[in-house]
Amino acid sequence: MHETNGATVAGNTAALKAAHEEYLFPCLKPLYREPIALVEASGVTVVDAEGETYLDFFAGILTTSIGHCHPEVVERVRAQVGRLGHTSTLYLTENQIGVAKRLAEIAPGRLSSCYFTNSGTEAVETAITLAQLYTGRHEIIALRLAYSGRSALATNLTAHASWRPVPSTIAGVKHARSPYLYRNPFDPAGDPAEQFAQDIEEVIQTTTSGKPAAFFAETIQGVGGYIVPPPGYFQRAAEIIRSYGGLFICDEVQAGFGRTGERWFGIEHWGVEPDIMVMAKGIANGFPVGATITRPDIAAGWTAKTISTYGGNPVSMAAAEATLDVMRREDTPARSAVRGRQLRAGLEALYDAHEWIGEVRGMGLMQAMELVKDRSSKTPAPGKARALLEAAKAEKLLVGLGGLHGHVIRIGPSMLVTEAEVDDALARLGRACQRVG
Ligand SMILES: Cc1ncc(COP(=O)(O)O)c(C=O)c1O
Repeated sequence: MHETNGATVAGNTAALKAAHEEYLFPCLKPLYREPIALVEASGVTVVDAEGETYLDFFAGILTTSIGHCHPEVVERVRAQVGRLGHTSTLYLTENQIGVAKRLAEIAPGRLSSCYFTNSGTEAVETAITLAQLYTGRHEIIALRLAYSGRSALATNLTAHASWRPVPSTIAGVKHARSPYLYRNPFDPAGDPAEQFAQDIEEVIQTTTSGKPAAFFAETIQGVGGYIVPPPGYFQRAAEIIRSYGGLFICDEVQAGFGRTGERWFGIEHWGVEPDIMVMAKGIANGFPVGATITRPDIAAGWTAKTISTYGGNPVSMAAAEATLDVMRREDTPARSAVRGRQLRAGLEALYDAHEWIGEVRGMGLMQAMELVKDRSSKTPAPGKARALLEAAKAEKLLVGLGGLHGHVIRIGPSMLVTEAEVDDALARLGRACQRVG
């Protein structure tokens, strides 16, 4: 028996599981062998329907950026929902403008004009359409191992067969190699940044009309397994796409808002100003917001009619305003850098202890472990990753999975996580590693 917000939830996971299976699409598969039914949360702690408490180091897929139910977000959402709950984009609303202004203040360079939607998928769609309208061109270069969302276009940009429910139906999306250093197919004596960037040029020259609308890339590939490109890659990628008259769109849905440490956005680590940037997830601490930001001259390229019924919804915008205010006050880039170093050091100690951890990688509070059969073959080990995910659950620690084969453990807690909580998570993960041997 467990008391939660006045309601009583008495070990009802089995009933919820049965009802889920009866009333929801079977493709909506919970992560664990025995699903966890979450009923309440605070900070990095979540509680399930059995009354079990877990340390959440995946944050709803890197989304509860300042911790579950942050009091300032809760309070401002509560106030907003009782005052004005919906308007559509047909009217002016103060907090939509407030969020746009805050984003313009932290976004790189001249990016200052925003379009709000309800998800990362829609933010991506908006960016691609805008690039096509502005350039008068159609073709897009994306990266293999990308994950970009669940619409027809976004599943085509996505480059994992398992995330593509139907064959590619959108013409003009071409994929260059992921800048995946751990599995680098090029001559090891060469400069990997240049080699991977050259692949973009080859894709433009060989698979497009030579007139692409844009190069579209996550700054760190999230679902791909936190793939961090080599230094210099994005500078060259931006130069190449611009030399062919296309725009550079960067996807900061996972890497944004300080997650990578020191900087507000991942792309700033490489000193490149994108033409368009997309954001979602951590922007509103779990409320549905997607945002596309660009330069005013590019935004002006969209002259066709457009609305978004829920885009810029006042309740979601109140959540985003509060989240951005807390992130600025608490300096999430600095916090992610410090706690990220602590987390990374702990993961590297696990690497030293376990031959089946092929690589530890990431930036700030976006850290992953790629699991392999052994370090010499580098054969992906999805079974081990599943076992470790379940073992971490047994230690009451939530982490995520990623990678093409589901063989990468992904970690991304709230950016307000404390030193003690990181130590606790590392101890639990260490015990989980012992369990799987
Ligand atoms: C990098 C990236 N872009 C876009 C998306 C799509 O976002 P959403 O699930 O909010 O539609 C995701 C979702 O995981 C993502 O990781």
